[in-house]
Amino acid sequence: MRPQGLLLFALGASALHIPIQDLEAHLLPERSSNLHLSPLPDDNLHPRQSCENTPTSRNCWGDFSVDTNYYDKTPVAGRTVEYWLSVQQGPCAPDGVQRTCMTFNGTIPGPTLFADWGDTIVIHVTNNMATNGTAIHWHGLRQSSSVLYDGVPGVTQCPIAPGTSLTYRFRVTQYGSTWYHSHFSLQYSEGLFGGMIFNGPATADYDEDLGVLFLQDWSHTESFTLWNTAKLGAPPSLETGLINGTNTWDCATQDPANPSCTSGGAKKEIIFTPGTKYRLRLVNVAIDGKFQFSIDGHSLTVIANDLVPIVPFTTDSLEITIGQRYDVIVEANATPGDYWLRAGWIQTCSMNNNPANMTAIVRYDASSTSDPTSASTITPSTNCLDEPAANLVPHLSLDVTNPTSNITREDLSFVFDSYFKWTINTSSLLLDWAHPTLENILDGTSIFPTEYNVVQVQPTTGTSNGSVPEWAVLVIQDMSNIGLAHPIHLHGHDFWILSQTPAAQFDPATSPASFDLTNPPRRDVATLPGNGYLAIAFLLDNPGAWLTHCHIAWHASQGLSLEFVESQKDIVVSAADEAVFRGTCDAWRSWELSNPFEQDDSGI
Ligand code: C2O
Repeated sequence: MRPQGLLLFALGASALHIPIQDLEAHLLPERSSNLHLSPLPDDNLHPRQSCENTPTSRNCWGDFSVDTNYYDKTPVAGRTVEYWLSVQQGPCAPDGVQRTCMTFNGTIPGPTLFADWGDTIVIHVTNNMATNGTAIHWHGLRQSSSVLYDGVPGVTQCPIAPGTSLTYRFRVTQYGSTWYHSHFSLQYSEGLFGGMIFNGPATADYDEDLGVLFLQDWSHTESFTLWNTAKLGAPPSLETGLINGTNTWDCATQDPANPSCTSGGAKKEIIFTPGTKYRLRLVNVAIDGKFQFSIDGHSLTVIANDLVPIVPFTTDSLEITIGQRYDVIVEANATPGDYWLRAGWIQTCSMNNNPANMTAIVRYDASSTSDPTSASTITPSTNCLDEPAANLVPHLSLDVTNPTSNITREDLSFVFDSYFKWTINTSSLLLDWAHPTLENILDGTSIFPTEYNVVQVQPTTGTSNGSVPEWAVLVIQDMSNIGLAHPIHLHGHDFWILSQTPAAQFDPATSPASFDLTNPPRRDVATLPGNGYLAIAFLLDNPGAWLTHCHIAWHASQGLSLEFVESQKDIVVSAADEAVFRGTCDAWRSWELSNPFEQDDSGI
């Protein structure tokens, strides 16, 4: 893993090319956000007393710490971490029932990608599928100065054509837990996802890191077949769920007539040593569903939501919607035995045929093979909203200062034409994979197709590096009268949650007065409550084209999405990256000429 290549830093409107080998010699700060003016923050030149990250000092990170403002400062590690991912399609049986899956390197989940806060990560993705394009998104990463590697087909790139590769390259300016997944139609729900762990400080101590734990709904029929049902409006109820890509299925009683049912699956098992504190990184990767996670007999200390460290709180169960992550610490302090770990499917949010089957096992004795007999003592939730805001207090306290000048209101509704589509201000997202938004931007036009649902935003002072922080506020108002909750995800930013108001109309004259501006929850996925509104604020400090969408896979395919084109004139792309971008498009367009691909959804 030898450092190589060029890194591009945007400082103000100008760009510098610095060979990576020279980075240690240049104490370069990360691109300065609007929160601070100084291009070289003092702490970078005169670091605090450095302290080591150990099981009893998890708040430490060398010259940095959990108190560092990570929007402004990134450790210069000078390290480049390199990974190779093969996107492939083939037979799989995660719960013992055979079907076809799409995978990274043949496994569900794909390999976990590890890096340290401040590293540069280089990921070579090869599309080894025969007849599908793909594009890989690194969920929750701000991609400052690297918008071309955000991985959205039709927005930041053309799909990677079969038999070709794309190398994604970006700086790790955040730390904590996230996931990567295909952003091409429904591919992630076929198995194309994996974890990302960026080592850094934490707000509470723990002994061992158990890594990422994926919670997922699962069908024995491919999603692209189920799509034919979903597109009619009512989503199908899936058979079961998986935890970290595995589960059991009782063929004899559940599926006697199915020859591809082998009862060969297994429950995920976790072994606890008494007295040890474990860190678990929960991710909801469902197609359509919310979980109330719990482990019988154990409590959870929650230390981060998405890529934002929070003031720790302790709970018996944790509610997690699609795309969200929670880092929890579990202490092995129960009477030694076997315990159920429960994904905790919430049936009132979306239906599943076997919600009680979504379990894993925690054992204190690795040689035990018996099923736990433990009982759950949690109060089952029936709501489809997020954890209460009062629980989600960011450790790095940041207020929203002047949010009302720049409010974009978007109304969510639906239309039934060729199929059921969600609309944003009457337009359902429809992307042309062969002509991504960034192509228009690189070609110097600021005119975009209507169905790209582009919202152009920029600071009123005309610069994204001005002395006064400027915010954009997005209000999504559910006018559909359907009453479903939608997990809304914004690319390119963490956002501050100003309001999540169920069953209400946003009133521009009065509603902003009740915005939560004082260190509100900050993350990258938040729920829009049914028939109500979600108001979020983000800093206009990251020029780029940033998708915003519902993370329910069916709804994304049904067009529930818009794109922010932020500070277009300040978008900086190096000549080398532009050449890669154009090459990917040329390869896709020439593949498509001989393999006409029928796009059957919004494209995301
Ligand atoms: Cu998990 Cu648009 O992404």
